[in-house]
Amino acid sequence: MRYWFVCVALCLTLVARAETFDQYAVAADHALASQAGAAILAQGGNAVDAAVATSFALSVVRPYSCGIGGGGFMVIKFAEDPTHGERAVALNYRETCPEGVGPDYYEDKPAGASRVGGTAVATPGTVLGLLHALETYGTMDRASVLAPAIALAEEGFEADAHYAQAAANVIRQFEANPAYKTRFAFTWERYLQRGEVEIGTRIRNPEQALALRLIARDGARAFYMGAIGEAVVRAVRGDGGALTMEDLASATVETLEPRRLDLSLDDGTKVGPNGRLRAVHTVGDAEFVGYTMPLPSSGGVTMDQALRIIAAIDGGPSALRAALGRNDAAGWALFAETLRHAFADRSRYLADPNFAELPLDELVEPANIVRIASLIVDRVEMDPARYGTPWLEVAPRGDAAWSLPEDGGTSHISVVDAQGNAVACTESINLEFGSLLPVPEFGFCLNNEMDDFTTQRGGVNAFGLRQSDANLPEAGKRPLSSMSPTIVTRVEGRERAERIAVVAGASGGPRIITATLQAILRVTLLDQDAEEAVGGARVHHQWLPDTLLLDPALMGDAELRAALGSMGHETAVIGSEAAVQLVRRLGDGRLDAASDPRKGGAPAGD
Ligand code: DON
Repeated sequence: MRYWFVCVALCLTLVARAETFDQYAVAADHALASQAGAAILAQGGNAVDAAVATSFALSVVRPYSCGIGGGGFMVIKFAEDPTHGERAVALNYRETCPEGVGPDYYEDKPAGASRVGGTAVATPGTVLGLLHALETYGTMDRASVLAPAIALAEEGFEADAHYAQAAANVIRQFEANPAYKTRFAFTWERYLQRGEVEIGTRIRNPEQALALRLIARDGARAFYMGAIGEAVVRAVRGDGGALTMEDLASATVETLEPRRLDLSLDDGTKVGPNGRLRAVHTVGDAEFVGYTMPLPSSGGVTMDQALRIIAAIDGGPSALRAALGRNDAAGWALFAETLRHAFADRSRYLADPNFAELPLDELVEPANIVRIASLIVDRVEMDPARYGTPWLEVAPRGDAAWSLPEDGGTSHISVVDAQGNAVACTESINLEFGSLLPVPEFGFCLNNEMDDFTTQRGGVNAFGLRQSDANLPEAGKRPLSSMSPTIVTRVEGRERAERIAVVAGASGGPRIITATLQAILRVTLLDQDAEEAVGGARVHHQWLPDTLLLDPALMGDAELRAALGSMGHETAVIGSEAAVQLVRRLGDGRLDAASDPRKGGAPAGD
C-alpha cells in the first residue's frame, strides 16, 4: 500500500529545482533573480531588501512577466523584533485606472483595446510599491538593492527556455500583425530580436539600466514626476491611450491588513456553539495560519471561502488529502466542486472595495458555508447559476469566447531571511510583454492590466473570467486580481509562538489561486517537501467555463478521467500551468526552497 502511494506521488510530480539552506532563502522564477536577492541577504539585508532587489532583477531578466511598467502585491510577516513587532502587512501597489477611462470606455473600441497598446495601460505601481516597502520595512539604501538589476541590464543575460517560449508566443502575434513591428519597435527589436530569439541569445538593456540608475538616484520621483514618467506618458498617448502625468503623480500604495486563512483542516470540523467553523488539524501539534492578500486580490477571499467549505464537509479534509496524496478521484471531485462555488462568488461579487459595498462577510458566514457544503455533499448535476451565493444574477453577454492563454505575464518571489522575516511578493504586467507597448528610452514594456477590469459588461477577460459590474473601470480603481502572495505560520507550543512554515505564490492568472492553495496544502496537510509541493500535479476549476482542468500528468490517467466524468465533470488539459515559487521552513529551522520547473527558475540562499 505504502509502496503504491509513493509511486503515485513520484509519477505525478515534476522535478522542481529545490535546495535546502541553513540561514536564508529566495525562490524566484529565474535563478539570476533569486541570486540577486540572496546577495543582498549575504550583505546583511533583510527579507524586504532582498525581495525588492529580486523584483528589480526580474524586471530585467523576466521582462515579459513583470517589471517597472507594472504593479503588484507584497505580504510581509516580521519575526518578533523591536521595530515592527510580530506584524504582518499587505502592500497593494496594483496599477490603477487612469482618470480618462470610465465604465464605458471600451464599449465602442475594437476588440483587443484593453489588451494591446496605449488603451490597455493602467497607471503603473511597481516602483512606488517597491521603494515604499524598502523605505518603510527595509534596511538598505536604493543604490545597494538596485545594483544587481543594473548590472544584469548592462551586462545582459541569456534567454532561457521559458524566455524563448514566451518570445515565440509573442513573435506569432507580431507576424500576424506586421504593423506591430514598427508600432512596438523596441519590443520587436530588443526583446524579440526581430523574431530570432533562441535559448542562449544575449539580451542587453542599457536603456533599463539608465532607468534603474535614475530610480536609485532620485527615488520614485524619477518615475512618477520625472524623465521616466514623461517617457511613459509620451508612449501611451502616442499610441492612443489616456494616461497623463497627473495620473502618475496620483499613484498610491495601500497598506492593508492581510486576510487570514485558517489552514487547520480536520475531519472533525463542525460549526461550534458560537457559530464559528472550528477545527484543529495538527501536523506535530501545530496549527497553520495563512496571511494572504485581501481585495483587490480575489485570492484571499477565494482561498478562504474554499477552505471553509472543505472544513464544513464531513470528511472533506481527508478527501482533499487523498486527492493531493494519491490522486483519488472522489477527492479531486470534491475539491473541484468547492472551487466552482468559490469562483462563482469571485465572479459575482469581487472588486476593488474602495469603490463599492461588497458582501464580503456574507460570503464566508457559517450559514452560507454550511449551505454550500451541503450542496456539494448532495450534488447532482447542477446549473452553474446555482453555484456560490446566487442572490444576484450576472447576465452573461453573448457567447463570449474564453481561453486560458499560455502566458507568463506575472512573477512570484518567496523570501525568508536569517531573522525569520518573510516576504511573499507577486507582480504582473498581465499578459506576456503586457500591452506590447515599450518605453524605448528606458527599456521596458507597459502593462495591459486594464484587461483585468470588466471591460465589456457580462464579457470575459483574457483568462476567461466573467466579472461583475462592480469591477468596471473607474478613475483610481484597481482591477480585480488573482495574485495571491501567501505566508503561512505554524502556531507552536504553550506560548503559541508563530513561526514561518511556508511562503508561496504563483503566476498564471486565475490558476494562481488554485495552484497556490494546492502547493500550500501539500505542505500543511501532507508534510510534503518543497520540491513535491511545487512539482505536484494540480487541478483548476474557475466556475465558468464549466470544465475541470487537469495537469497533463492527471489528464493521462484514463481511469481518473472516467471516474471524474461519472461524477459529472467534463475534463480538459490545463495547457500552460501556474508556476509556484515556495520556501518551506523545516522543523530544525533549515529552509527548503523550490522554484517551479514549469518556469525554469532556481532558488538561492545560504
Ligand atoms: O492580476 C491578475 O490576476 C493577472 N493580471 C495575472 C496575470 C498572470 O498571472 C499572467 N500569467 N502568468
